[in-house]
Amino acid sequence: MSKIATLEIDGNKYEFPIIEGTEKELGIDIKTLRTATGGVTTIDPGYKNTGSCESAITFLDGEKGILRYRGYSIEELAEKADFLEVAYLLIFGELPTAAQLEKFDQDIKEESHVDEDMKKILDGFPKSAHPMGVLSSLTSALIAFNPGSVDVDSEEEMYDAIVKIMAKFPVLAAWTMRKRKSLPLDYGDSSLGYVENLHKMMFSRPNKTYEPNKIVYDALDKLLILHADHEQNCSTSTVRIVGSSHAGLFASISAGISALWGPLHGGANQAVIEMLEAIKADGGDTARYINKAKDKNDPFRLMGFGHRVYKNFDPRAKIIKKSADEVLGDLGIEDPVLDIAKGLAEVALEDEYFVQRKLYPNVDFYSGIIYRALDIPTEMFTVMFALGRLPGWIAQWREMRLRKEPIGRPRQIYTGENHRDFKPVSER
Ligand code: CMC
Repeated sequence: MSKIATLEIDGNKYEFPIIEGTEKELGIDIKTLRTATGGVTTIDPGYKNTGSCESAITFLDGEKGILRYRGYSIEELAEKADFLEVAYLLIFGELPTAAQLEKFDQDIKEESHVDEDMKKILDGFPKSAHPMGVLSSLTSALIAFNPGSVDVDSEEEMYDAIVKIMAKFPVLAAWTMRKRKSLPLDYGDSSLGYVENLHKMMFSRPNKTYEPNKIVYDALDKLLILHADHEQNCSTSTVRIVGSSHAGLFASISAGISALWGPLHGGANQAVIEMLEAIKADGGDTARYINKAKDKNDPFRLMGFGHRVYKNFDPRAKIIKKSADEVLGDLGIEDPVLDIAKGLAEVALEDEYFVQRKLYPNVDFYSGIIYRALDIPTEMFTVMFALGRLPGWIAQWREMRLRKEPIGRPRQIYTGENHRDFKPVSER
């Protein structure tokens, strides 16, 4: 029997259906709230209690620490799948057959170049520009070189747009890094896989033969998979809301990159390493920083700790912590910053402040340590996150358009001045 929620305002009762998801989550469907009540709205800053859509892409249970893409556990995908397979799964809903995967890979390779004039735009940026700003601008600029809107009712047009952005995005990301390092741009090599080619475009040197490295590829592959989607987070909600105005895929992704940049979201991975470095430079006194994080008069927060949804543990952090140990071991790297991170986590996990508020290490806490071991510069960390999140953004944009969702347009409760008469400047 379907469940009903009853709301009472000034003695008047209103009923709303409760919808149930496939994992038994309940949501009060308030679509008719304003019409039924004559204009009453809800208020929920930060959308802590608001479901913005129904979605069949990613399931996460913050209490139990569960994360699944299209029903498959993140642990199993990180272990057994590669990034392109996961991208296909997220975007199209099923794991690809060998033929589908081969076609996806080949189609992406065909499109893995950007217009030469994009280089002029890249050249216009100062070397000091943050790669996330450059990446967002270049992604937006791609629209000028690939004009025309996508007919979302045409499977073919939708597929072409998806392949184009999957193909060109790694080129732009790699080029933002090379520009910062004053290295000549690399056009990649279509005999390499998606992740291998990304690595080559980032790291090849003009005077050296590019050496493949399986340990590095596997580590990158795993990190990209772990970041590939996370349901309605800040950047994904941005992509969906921008796309809901029928702005194109590239414009929506560019907006998502900007949303991801902030230190409370994807920018946390850069902030974590900067914090760990600062603690190291300050003599490694983790207790002092734990106290700073707890002090309400101090703006300092323990970066890489806490999550809006996970209130037990972040399953991605668990996998990444183990992977950090393995990758550093395999590459023969000792990083004192990893010890500081572990020390910090140990103290925080026992501390009443963190325990009470259910603050655990999140995906960003250990990922930077692996990126460092792979020689990726700190200011590129959030770009790596964006590279991983790309298929998630695409999948969510596609779902939103195929479901013909209405334009995103929240309401508000106005708390400003009531009507007043205009005074000419001479009377103010
Ligand atoms: N250090 C110290 N205190 C914290 C932290 C932290 N990292 N995170 C939350 N708190 C405290 C906060 O001060 C508040 O305390 P009180 O109840 O006494 O006022 C309580 O915990 C609840 O925090 P909140 O800010 O209301 O929680 P939220 O759900 O709005 O924010 C968050 C979630 C991830 C933005 C926040 O935990 C945070 O700023 N963490 C550090 C930044 C970070 O690591 N972000 C990456 C998130 S995971 C990857 C991603 O989404 O990109």
